[in-house]
Amino acid sequence: MAERIKVMLTEEEVDAKIQQIGEQISKDYAGKQVHLVCVLKGGSFFMCELAKRITVPVSLDFMSVSSYGSETKSSGVVKIVKDLDEPLKGKDVIVIEDIVDSGRTLSYLLEMLKDRGPASLRLCTLLDKPDRRVVDVHVDYTGFQIPDEFVVGYGLDYDQRYRNLPYIGVVEFD
Ligand code: IMP
Ligand code: MG
Repeated sequence: MAERIKVMLTEEEVDAKIQQIGEQISKDYAGKQVHLVCVLKGGSFFMCELAKRITVPVSLDFMSVSSYGSETKSSGVVKIVKDLDEPLKGKDVIVIEDIVDSGRTLSYLLEMLKDRGPASLRLCTLLDKPDRRVVDVHVDYTGFQIPDEFVVGYGLDYDQRYRNLPYIGVVEFD
């Protein structure tokens, strides 16, 4: 089955939005150091681009999680595949995600990270699909709200491919 990628958000649009978010975070965290927690693998491209545009001191850490349960019926219980290297205690933490979909993974993850005693904890996502939300999650910084379509690029994959596209696209099948 042949696949084509239809552009939804161009590289220029995504870059401009990341610049804006970077400026906003730099303002909001003036005088502080911000600790970015990237949710692998999808959040990695966004986090790197965002971190380059933040002007306050930045430290980085990474974690990888997987959902228990089948692909279609995520239980919302998250297994930590790779935990953070450093404690969060006293840090001003921003969790960086590629996309918030049902919200199940993130609501579980945020509760877990809150228990580690950060000074503050916020969520920043490149994309948000509000129509798909099952669990309420407060998003502090959103790049784009998008319709309920399966997207790839900028870290997002279809069967582990297309993460490297420098734009956001929709997979179409012939
Ligand atoms: P949820 O919010 O717990 O449903 O899970 C969100 C996760 O599902 C994201 O971090 C992505 O890994 C994946 N996901 C959701 N929608 C898409 C999409 O349109 N393209 C690629 N991955 C997606
Ligand atoms: Mg993800």
